Amino acid sequence: MTFQSSNHSTSIWHASSSIPRFPRLEEEYDADVCVIGAGIAGLTTAYLLSGAGKSVVVIDAAHIGAGESGRTTAHFFPPDEHYFQIESNFGKENAALVADSYRKAADLVELIVQSENIECQFERLPGYLFAGEGKNAAELDQEYAAAQNAQLDVQRVDQVPGLSFSTGRAVQFSHQAQFHPLRYLNGLARAIISNGGHIFDETRALSISGKLHDHVIHTPRAQIKAGAVVVATNTPFNDRVVMHTKQAGYMSYVIGVRVPKNSVPRVLLWDTGDPYHYVRLQPSENDRAEDILLVGGEDHKVGQDEHPEHRYRVLEAWVRQRFPMAAQVVYRWSGQVMEPADGLAFLGRNPMDDKNIYVITGDSGNGMTHCTAGAMIVADLILGRANAWAELYAPSRKPVHGVAEFVKEQANTLAQYGDWFQGGEVESADEIPAGQGALLRDGAKQLAVYRDDQGDLHVLSAVCTHLGGIVSWNPAEKSWDCPCHASRFEATGEVLHGPAITALERATLNEKYDAPLKPGVSHERPEVR
Ligand code: FES
Repeated sequence: MTFQSSNHSTSIWHASSSIPRFPRLEEEYDADVCVIGAGIAGLTTAYLLSGAGKSVVVIDAAHIGAGESGRTTAHFFPPDEHYFQIESNFGKENAALVADSYRKAADLVELIVQSENIECQFERLPGYLFAGEGKNAAELDQEYAAAQNAQLDVQRVDQVPGLSFSTGRAVQFSHQAQFHPLRYLNGLARAIISNGGHIFDETRALSISGKLHDHVIHTPRAQIKAGAVVVATNTPFNDRVVMHTKQAGYMSYVIGVRVPKNSVPRVLLWDTGDPYHYVRLQPSENDRAEDILLVGGEDHKVGQDEHPEHRYRVLEAWVRQRFPMAAQVVYRWSGQVMEPADGLAFLGRNPMDDKNIYVITGDSGNGMTHCTAGAMIVADLILGRANAWAELYAPSRKPVHGVAEFVKEQANTLAQYGDWFQGGEVESADEIPAGQGALLRDGAKQLAVYRDDQGDLHVLSAVCTHLGGIVSWNPAEKSWDCPCHASRFEATGEVLHGPAITALERATLNEKYDAPLKPGVSHERPEVR
């Protein structure tokens, strides 16, 4: 069975995976640990804890890999908050701890792949950081020095070997890694079940009550009682405000381009641009003579670009300038990353609750690594074991080292509430073509109006159900995106990404705004998958 994403675009992983499906939770359930979210963070945590003898239940609002784990490029390379920045903000000792966590997270994945016989194309390969366009090489020198201080195996090279374009000087990091994330999740799920754990699809966690060792997780049809709760939902839904002031949601874009096999070396690449580009290869499933070159970047804050499709074109131009062998673009998709204000992920106890609720968030551009390291930290905390990284990554830490970024993001968030006072984007539903959405002001109300491919209108309140921001239409993913704290909703209003937990409210359209679709107006679909 081909796995379906609830987003509009389809990643190469979704297009090439068969994911097991599990029933919905219909009856009360008791477990030592309830893990909410069946992505890399949640399933790795469940795997570690079930392997240590805990009874574990995993629930997901959709199903395994339905969130951002299926929309990553699935690489393990150094933190996108560079080591020299971490060293400057947190000190050399802590930069070495970050390096240690990155190394051991990739090692754990490799160990799990081997011990559980997971066929997920896990591969060790070198990674290269080179200067982005218009950037000088000074950052490379700083990163090389900081990586050496952190005892990493790094080399300076004058050019990334085997590439047909000039990268200039680069820093080589040995022993990085990549894999197929959904096939890995498939293997983790199998191992969790074999360890005695349970997984339930289509079971959204609505709230968590209780305290200490008696938590109740409320879902639409039944409750779960658990001693500990792990919230592994990319951004935590259980924390209304605090965590959402410490991080900001960004969309990142990826294209997959056909290239002749062996025409691009098997390496990981990323540059010092802001936003930066990231590059990897994936074997083509359809043609043994080809690879798919995956290139990502062009990030922007969620809900703050009305016409994001142009970002795919910019990415493609970047690729064609550097990889002349690049043929047809066959994939394009976007994913969401949470950028922590101080550059380090938030992995550990939720700061607002008692000591047995945990969060794994702030994945930044290193989701595979942070989710795995987060699972290791949380599993140790639950099992009462010491963990050398726990204090550094503690979600309760104050943004002492990212104050400027923190202030900038908060000002940006506040500015988004100004959308309450804006006029609508259209004056009548008549202006909305099939397959598209737009905001329409009806007196004091802001409405989010979507016209589906059949021409039927779906009228919703444009007020985000998290903390009242005004959503905006994302034509690339056909979703309603909130620019405040990065909640995202399906075109028909259902929650696609937290922190919101409830759908956009249904609304009605004053008939003076309701007009049939203009004859001849249609939506043109992209040719790529
Ligand atoms: Fe917080 Fe929308 S995500 S107001």
